[in-house]
Amino acid sequence: AIDRIIAWEALDSRGTPTVACEVVLADGHRGQAVVPSGASTGAHEAVELRDGGRRYGGRGVRNAVNNVVTVLAEAVQGTDAADQAEVDRLLRETDGSADLARVGANAVLSVSIAAAIASAQAQGLPLYRAVAGAGAGEDVLLPMPMINVISGGAHAGRAIDIQDVLVVPIGATSFAEALELCWRVRAGTAEVAGERGLMSALVADEGGLGPALTSNRAALSLLVDGMLRAGVEPGVDASIAIDVAASQFFDGVHYHLAADERTLTADELVDELAGWSRDFPIVSLEDVLSEDDWSGWARATGVLGHVQLLGDDLFTTNPARLQRGVDSGTANAVLVKPNQIGTLTEAREVVRIAAAARYATVLSARSGETEDSWLADLAVGWRTGQIKVGSTMRSERTAKWNRLLRIEQELGGRARFATGEFG
Ligand code: PGA
Ligand code: ZN
Repeated sequence: AIDRIIAWEALDSRGTPTVACEVVLADGHRGQAVVPSGASTGAHEAVELRDGGRRYGGRGVRNAVNNVVTVLAEAVQGTDAADQAEVDRLLRETDGSADLARVGANAVLSVSIAAAIASAQAQGLPLYRAVAGAGAGEDVLLPMPMINVISGGAHAGRAIDIQDVLVVPIGATSFAEALELCWRVRAGTAEVAGERGLMSALVADEGGLGPALTSNRAALSLLVDGMLRAGVEPGVDASIAIDVAASQFFDGVHYHLAADERTLTADELVDELAGWSRDFPIVSLEDVLSEDDWSGWARATGVLGHVQLLGDDLFTTNPARLQRGVDSGTANAVLVKPNQIGTLTEAREVVRIAAAARYATVLSARSGETEDSWLADLAVGWRTGQIKVGSTMRSERTAKWNRLLRIEQELGGRARFATGEFG
């Protein structure tokens, strides 16, 4: 049972304050978690509690930390940490609001995850086994990564409008091989960009390149050239995924592709993306339209649904929003970010709804991350099939990749890599 909780204000990978906590069980086992934070956050996400005022430019989290050690600790004290649903129900009940704005989703998530880690410790199980639950069986699925190579939008000073151009190593047969293949593509892309005088020394928020490109399409052709330079065959060994993050350049009426000097309607943006997917080996498109344009998304699903059409800001890891999507046939895949909803139980519920509706699931880090590696265990334990963590560098990214490498190594022949995600 949960005995006590310790919490403190820590920093994330952007140097922004975040909530860290440690759950201590009565038997002495402990679990520690530090929560991540987004930059291009969706309007329907659960709310991070920030202090305002002068400390850390108003971004401090002392009030959230205080909520952890007072009301949240009081609520879950004595609860069996292995009963995640009950822990999370008590946390949510203590806040009482739908978006967790009272005690803060950052406060709630820190306890939810630390309790899961403490419980795994107490059971003597690796976290991925503990979160899989009873009846999960021995067969373990390592996720197909999508790895950021070129960044734009809110993560890289808006050199291009689309936020993320990623490589998907569809030809890899193990996680270790997948990671090396992506590393080679990143190196090849950096080399080509350097020769063309496009390279800047800057590294984007998720470790991606932020080259000085003059159009959105130029990012896609640069990535294809990078693959060729690396000896990686486009469309066979590796394909492209894009996070359009369209809400970021939507003014309420139009979409502004500043790099292309064009202003588009929703229909025109969908047609533009259809053109990109004809000309480039694209297998996944994320947030192709703004987060509340359900009718636009319906048309987009008709036009672009032959590739993976991924809802991030659209669904915000919210079971009700995903259910609305499933019922209306909107998109065909969901990005899962635990801090968008605030508890592991609800994030898990999103994975369950998606699996039942045959929507693909991509577990995702945030642009502001931490040194924690629990995201890797969740991807394996929940069998999400895919994971998105950023680039192959920066310790907050490699903490997750390194954990997946360790799990694959530890399982040996019992590890299965999710090769079938893209046909
Ligand atoms: P964020 O970006 O963490 O800044 O929201 C990640 C994404 O949009 O997928
Ligand atoms: Zn996104």
